[in-house]
Amino acid sequence: MSKIHVTTTVNGDPAEFLTDPQTTLLDALRDNLGLTGSKEGCGSGDCGACSVILDGRLVCSCLVLAPEAEGRRVETIENLAEGGQLHPLQRKFLEHAALQCGFCTPGLLVASKALLDSNPDPTEEEARYWLAGNLCRCTGYDKVIRAVLDAAAELRQERKAA
Ligand code: FES
Ligand code: FES
Repeated sequence: MSKIHVTTTVNGDPAEFLTDPQTTLLDALRDNLGLTGSKEGCGSGDCGACSVILDGRLVCSCLVLAPEAEGRRVETIENLAEGGQLHPLQRKFLEHAALQCGFCTPGLLVASKALLDSNPDPTEEEARYWLAGNLCRCTGYDKVIRAVLDAAAELRQERKAA
């Protein structure tokens, strides 16, 4: 089968790769671009471990075909920390012990980032609803929600001070 040449932007940088038409964006990120932070939990859109932001919208990268990334902007978990500094969400996840095995964590962090990008001051209910598609078998979710709300508060403070 002939390969498709995809030109896209990943984490702010131009990226290109050759792919089969049926390859998922998740596999292309991991196998073609070496960005292994996004995980495959289910491969069917049920767990959120593969969450990425595509043109500003949260998606399950296991449900997106790699050629669909053509000409678009992809943000992955590798884009969260900046210049060696953890993103406030990452710091708060650590402080609140909002992870155990960590398999779900990249997806939860990316989904949380998408939440705070669109809603900087979510209620607990809104945060729980938004993250309902990200499954975690370890934490019981409470610590995750505390971490997200705490990070949101810190980011609002930072914005005010800027
Ligand atoms: S691996 Fe994509 S939703 Fe589970
Ligand atoms: S920390 Fe293990 S699945 Fe979430």
